[in-house]
Amino acid sequence: MATENGKERIFTLEATPMKFGPGAAADTGWELARMGVKRAMVVTDPNVREAGIADRVVELITAEDIECEVFDRARSEPTADSLQEAADVAVEGEFDGFVGVGGGSCIDTAKVSDLVSTHPAEILDYVNPPVGGGKKPPSPLKPLLAIPTTAGTGSEATSVAVLDIPDEKVKTGISHAFMRPHRAVVDPELSRTMPRSVASSAGLDVVCHAAESYVARPFDTREAPASPGERPPYQGSNPVSDLWSARALEYGGKYLRRAVEDEDDVEARGFMMLAASLAGIGFGSAGVHIPHACSYPIASLKHEWTPPGYNTDHAFVPHGWSVIVSSPAAFRYTFEADPERHRRAAELIKGEPIDDADEDTLPDVLVSLMQAVGAPRGIREFGYEEGDVGVLVEGALKQQRLLVISPREAGPNELAGILQQSFENW
Ligand SMILES: [Fe+2]
Repeated sequence: MATENGKERIFTLEATPMKFGPGAAADTGWELARMGVKRAMVVTDPNVREAGIADRVVELITAEDIECEVFDRARSEPTADSLQEAADVAVEGEFDGFVGVGGGSCIDTAKVSDLVSTHPAEILDYVNPPVGGGKKPPSPLKPLLAIPTTAGTGSEATSVAVLDIPDEKVKTGISHAFMRPHRAVVDPELSRTMPRSVASSAGLDVVCHAAESYVARPFDTREAPASPGERPPYQGSNPVSDLWSARALEYGGKYLRRAVEDEDDVEARGFMMLAASLAGIGFGSAGVHIPHACSYPIASLKHEWTPPGYNTDHAFVPHGWSVIVSSPAAFRYTFEADPERHRRAAELIKGEPIDDADEDTLPDVLVSLMQAVGAPRGIREFGYEEGDVGVLVEGALKQQRLLVISPREAGPNELAGILQQSFENW
């Protein structure tokens, strides 16, 4: 029901039931059994398998008399093709449940495998418009248990799977409430295998999820939807998402430096995993906007940069780094929409009072965090030059689903300005 002026006055909060703590992964089989799964597809990638985590998960599952098969070819930054390969295995295998073990890419691949095997259709039919058909799954999917091994995407808590479509040079997603994992097991012990560069990129993604959600346009400034089915998953900031986002900002400021510095700092890495899940719940409700809208073309237009410290066979810009590079300029631009929220976000990350803030305060706090965790300086490092701004803007504008919840309207000129300021952040 809308208010007299047609504005929204409802918000929803949906969260994945979650089990958190060192050693929690030991409950994997038990969790899957109580979800009623008899035959599971375990979706992972070669690195997680090599670390022995996937095989341990298999042991725990089979110990509960549940059959399972491992698919270990999930690709970091999945493409429509790599998702199709997993989905084909999912359809043929006649599984009645799924387990995504690894970073966001593994969990996202598990989500799409579940989607396509439950409601068979072309992957592109499900992709968000205007790139895909925006088809909605007609009923809930088969049970999916998410077991993250990085601290970033928060995919265990969100209803989105992100994919790259290289032919169209665009990165986009499939989003629907039924895509949200049914349960998650978040075990800090599993984050020991995360390389430091992954901890840096993934951790900065967490901070951006939380910061973008926290300053997002308030939900009650949106037009009310004509029907409940049209209420977007990204609703704008609201009193409940604020709680999750604020705590994630605090943990990001307090623990990310340590988590990157020392692989064995399980306490810091655990808090970053928790921050990732908290931020996932926050942005799963409020949503992300300008830095994420810019990150998709940044990550998909040029495939020529190989990230240092990543064990990968292809050139790509890790998601968190593709997001963080435009965040200082984005928040400098959005500051005037709500100075107090930008001040508070900076204060939460910094962990100490900031009495006065201007448009540079939050950007400065983010830049110092980027420097501390070895993030790239800006988009020039990825191979972009001034002449590329036009195509980057075009790519960002395709992410209307995100841009609509920006606290300050960002059209082509504003996005060009933000990207121009993002070549070097220091
Ligand atoms: Fe992200």
